[in-house]
Amino acid sequence: MTTTVFTDETRARAREIIARYPADRSRSALLPLLHLVQSEEGYVSPAGVAFCAEVLGLNKAQVGAVASFYTMYKRRPTGDWLVSVCTNTMCNVLGGQEVYDTLAEHLGVGHDETTGDGKITLEHAECLAACDYGPVMTVNYDFFDGVDPQSAVGLVDELRAGGRPTPSRGARLCTLKEMSIQLAGFADEREGAVADGVPGEPSLRGLRLAQQHGISVPGYDPNTPIRGDKPAPATPAKAAPTGSTAPDVPAPDRKSPQVRTAETRQPDAKTAVPDAPGTKLPVDGVPPAPRDAQAAEAAGVTANPPAGDAKPAGDDAEAQERNLREAESTGRSGGQGSANDKGAQK
Ligand code: FES
Repeated sequence: MTTTVFTDETRARAREIIARYPADRSRSALLPLLHLVQSEEGYVSPAGVAFCAEVLGLNKAQVGAVASFYTMYKRRPTGDWLVSVCTNTMCNVLGGQEVYDTLAEHLGVGHDETTGDGKITLEHAECLAACDYGPVMTVNYDFFDGVDPQSAVGLVDELRAGGRPTPSRGARLCTLKEMSIQLAGFADEREGAVADGVPGEPSLRGLRLAQQHGISVPGYDPNTPIRGDKPAPATPAKAAPTGSTAPDVPAPDRKSPQVRTAETRQPDAKTAVPDAPGTKLPVDGVPPAPRDAQAAEAAGVTANPPAGDAKPAGDDAEAQERNLREAESTGRSGGQGSANDKGAQK
């Protein structure tokens, strides 16, 4: 079926998206294409599903299955402003649920519902990856940190009145359609649409503690300057030994995290401190398993030998293709679409 909802410009953009991928991997373009159709209609409509299927040579069930899997693709008309309130653990103990409940009552909508004026869609969200600023909410994926019921209500009221409040971090607010075109991979050329900045102190707290205690992971220099910090005053470099051609650059710190931690705790120790029984770390830093655990693991390996170097089950592209073709031909001969196909056309 040829769809007519989408303009020539949308089709040109679709071709541009598909061209980003190898010719035999064009279906990988599905995710940005779904954002593209969402940028036109504000959600992934049945026409949007059909459009993606058409340009990628897929069937609507395949597209519908992907579109219904990811929460960023909306299956119903959505407001200009998608307000997501984190109610996951960290935000919740800091008041996230109270923020959500207050907004739901104030707006008169529940999860995934849109206000009567079509402006705001409310949803509760799982962790928004900003626990250090909790409780957080996002408006079209831009963050508002440390909100409370009162500030959240003020925010949605400003949005409904036509304002564009400034997020705590990042670029200025976009409508959901404007954001979707960016998520499809097209730059927003407007002034202030893209922002960068230094990380906030709550995000840096762990890194500063690690630096303070000399804790690092292999391959990472804990003395790496933190972006946004003023550079540390230069320390005079030691002169290279006479005759040496080595560059005058301080040697990288290759101490293991355990050694650094031990040195920090025992800065004046001249000799190694004996480990408490059962706490000694081997050279690779992995504590030995208790003897009972080792025996249990050995017994488990014997009973369940590793699968050798065969590919994991399900990683057989040929078999997947074959199954897909069979499922499609069965569906055609039966004259019935799948549940997803039907769902996509609701
Ligand atoms: S729990 Fe809310 S951002 Fe992680």
